[in-house]
Amino acid sequence: MFRSKIIVVKIGGSTLGQNDTTLEDLVNLQKKKVPVVVVHGGGNAVTDWLSRLHISTRFVQGLRVTDEDTLKVVTAVLAGLINKELVSEISRRGGKAVGISGADGAIVMGTNKNRELGLTAEELTVNSHLLKALLNAGYMPVIAPVCINARAGDRDDNNLLNVNGDTIAAEIAAALDARKLIFLTDVPGIYDDSRQVITHIDVGRARNMIESGTASGGMVAKLEAGVIAARKVSLTRIIDGRVAHALIDEIEGKGKGTTIVNQQ
Ligand SMILES: Nc1ncnc2c1ncn2[C@@H]1O[C@H](COP(=O)(O)OP(=O)(O)O)[C@@H](O)[C@H]1O
Ligand SMILES: [Mg+2]
Repeated sequence: MFRSKIIVVKIGGSTLGQNDTTLEDLVNLQKKKVPVVVVHGGGNAVTDWLSRLHISTRFVQGLRVTDEDTLKVVTAVLAGLINKELVSEISRRGGKAVGISGADGAIVMGTNKNRELGLTAEELTVNSHLLKALLNAGYMPVIAPVCINARAGDRDDNNLLNVNGDTIAAEIAAALDARKLIFLTDVPGIYDDSRQVITHIDVGRARNMIESGTASGGMVAKLEAGVIAARKVSLTRIIDGRVAHALIDEIEGKGKGTTIVNQQ
């Protein structure tokens, strides 16, 4: 079966720091002609700006409950500030990046079926046309997790929806038939009940871990994302983004962490 060379990298909000080598690694991959699509979070920065603006914030199963004001801040901070900071940092290191959101080129359309989460999209459809055009032109797309509300003007007036970064990364990886989906996060991998890193996990065990509560908070979205990506048999990896050159090690097959596969 045809398999693209594309790699999708999700940069967790929790690992974006000054001493981070991730952006340097991304530029090196681009120089080696590896087609890379980046999806970023930025949850901490959103929480910081929400508190500066005195807007309270709440999470359900690791997903932010988004009201109208929160959505405005999410869009401004993620698709604005964080996205442009990343693009300029990549550019400064000699890379070619284009910062967009899931809304641009109508890449991602979503609906907020679960009203408990407010304006957070869950069911997503992806049109990868713009991403392929950018990759073919030698650019690294850097995507903020915001999408178009597929029902805007129908049920409500919100044109945009917030999306969890892990979920959008998985849907994009599946739509691109990506070779690999890599989550850079702030733990060495997925822990089992005794806090040992699990090296391989299949979709069935991933579901069990969510149900049993062994995985909680932000890890639930990552496991669910692995399940989504596995539909298209793309390989999902969860690695420690705090380790220097974790991404290059991963590409060279020296990476530690957890692999989510379709079947064990
Ligand atoms: N079983 C588990 N294994 C590893 N981490 C877990 C597990 N259950 C919950 N977590 C939490 O998930 C967090 C990673 O998700 P998150 O905070 O959303 O990071 P990111 O910014 O990378 O998305 C970890 O820091 C950890 O606190
Ligand atoms: Mg997260």
